[in-house]
Amino acid sequence: MPLIEFAEVTHTFGDGPAVLEDVSVSLQERRIGIIGGNGSGKSTFVRMINGLVVPETGTVKVDGDSTANQARRIRRKVGFCFTNPDSQIVMPTVAEDVAFGLRRLRLAKNDVQQRVSGILATYGLTELADRPAHTLSGGQKQLLALASVVVTEPEVLVLDEPTTLLDLSNEQRIRREIEQLDLQVILVTHHLHLLDGFDRVLVFHGGRLVADDHPDEARAAYRKLVT
Ligand SMILES: Nc1ncnc2c1ncn2[C@@H]1O[C@H](COP(=O)(O)OP(=O)(O)O)[C@@H](O)[C@H]1O
Ligand SMILES: [Mg+2]
Repeated sequence: MPLIEFAEVTHTFGDGPAVLEDVSVSLQERRIGIIGGNGSGKSTFVRMINGLVVPETGTVKVDGDSTANQARRIRRKVGFCFTNPDSQIVMPTVAEDVAFGLRRLRLAKNDVQQRVSGILATYGLTELADRPAHTLSGGQKQLLALASVVVTEPEVLVLDEPTTLLDLSNEQRIRREIEQLDLQVILVTHHLHLLDGFDRVLVFHGGRLVADDHPDEARAAYRKLVT
């Protein structure tokens, strides 16, 4: 698994309070969960993994490359899936959207078509290939967003609350798809049961990493913060 290293990371936006404060942690497990209240710094933390946010102080490295100067290289390795699939769907049709992510891999046309049809089949989207993406249901859109990232074969997939906008059946569908992924997964979620069986769970509170443990212990620490 890729090695993700945060070293003494502190970050503020503008002149607000610190959004992350003195975070040092190394991550290499296969399944890592991130939990904490709204505004605790979870999204900022995970956005730093692929250089969407570069820390003001401290460093974030992926396999030794710093996000401060190797973001392009790192983004080939680290895929990112947002809460709201609309923020990620960029092309008119489903198939075009999946193909879009592959552009930078400069594959031959046949390879692109093969990969696109393969991933659409995996995610049950084959019938929707030529549909305008904006006509999909919320659950279908999240599957499409996931497909469009997974098709690029990242080594790490960061998912920032991918099930928050979904109903129960779509949440379960996304959960099953995440379980199938043979790569490192970093999952931010308020759906704490999704973290059953995870290797490690980090708890954020007020920009600080306040617990780093097995799922049961970490979830208990989070519940204790809330009560
Ligand atoms: N781009 C930004 N500009 C200004 N403030 C931001 C920005 N992104 C996040 N914040 C602030 O940083 C804090 C932590 O946000 P975030 O990392 O999104 O937390 P979480 O994902 O845990 O809800 C919040 O107070 C939020 O308003
Ligand atoms: Mg967030």
